[in-house]
Amino acid sequence: MTNEPQEKTTGASPLSAEASTPARLYGALGDGKDHFKVDQTNAAALDEILPGMRLIVPDNRACLRRMVATAADLGIRQYIDLGSGLPDQPPNLHEVAQRTVKDARFIYVDNDPMVCTHGRALLQGGGVTMIEADARDIDALYRTYELLSVIETGRPVCVVLGAILHFFTDDEVKQVMEALDDFLAPGSLLLVTHATSDQPHYQPEQVQAARLAYEEQTGARLYLRSVQQIADLVLPGCVPLRPGLVTTAAWHPDYEYGPAQIPPAPYFMAVAAQVRHDVENRQYFLLDAARKAEQ
Ligand SMILES: C[S@@+](CC[C@H](N)C(=O)[O-])C[C@H]1O[C@@H](n2cnc3c(N)ncnc32)[C@H](O)[C@@H]1O
Repeated sequence: MTNEPQEKTTGASPLSAEASTPARLYGALGDGKDHFKVDQTNAAALDEILPGMRLIVPDNRACLRRMVATAADLGIRQYIDLGSGLPDQPPNLHEVAQRTVKDARFIYVDNDPMVCTHGRALLQGGGVTMIEADARDIDALYRTYELLSVIETGRPVCVVLGAILHFFTDDEVKQVMEALDDFLAPGSLLLVTHATSDQPHYQPEQVQAARLAYEEQTGARLYLRSVQQIADLVLPGCVPLRPGLVTTAAWHPDYEYGPAQIPPAPYFMAVAAQVRHDVENRQYFLLDAARKAEQ
């Protein structure tokens, strides 16, 4: 990544009462508490353009909880959540991890100062750190004292990329994936959810209208990608766990924190994957078998 200042991904000012930010609007679409009236108005408008839109947030969060619970079951003790969002829809992901791995260390990263202020007030301590940083610059993040004082770089890390890569250009996504591949130790896991333009319950024009409205409401660019485009961008450096790249509701719906989605509703795509240099380590592919054997 270059040291040039990057174009903002989050658009509006975090404290603007006139425009939404991705974090506040996401909270307003879900069960969040820390948003403004404009966010409620915008969430309602989006739900009118794409009926069922509000379900996307609880569905995505439930999927991320199932993914993090899985990473904790695998014994991963350190987590970095890139684009963590407002911590106002409990249980937060560190709580999910720490249910299984009591001393799990969790780093939340966001470039929205309002998210970071709330995060620091609510989350600090107990193995949790909040860092204000641009997730597109993994090199810089990995040079911060806050990260290096928490993360043991030689050990596996679970990196959460929940509903953030769709704010990045193709080149930015590739750079993030390559940088993570460089930094992460064998056994590390990537958890990705991503907005998709492939929405069989809706007309393509409706989906694009919702995207345009979202961009206008937040000032942030939204890169809706087809399932194939997501696979082409995210998977080349990875070995996906079963069931591969699927809708968030279909990612192990039988696990705890089961799906919230009631179709028809728009959805994100989800995949959990190991970074490729660990391709020889097959243990994660045995995950389902091991879980079933335990039951
Ligand atoms: C839609 S919310 C998703 C929140 C959470 N990850 C989830 O999936 O429930 C996206 C978050 O990514 C953050 N974000 C967007 N671009 C970012 C960037 N370049 N660096 C860090 N955070 C970013 C936003 O501020 C927002 O909090």
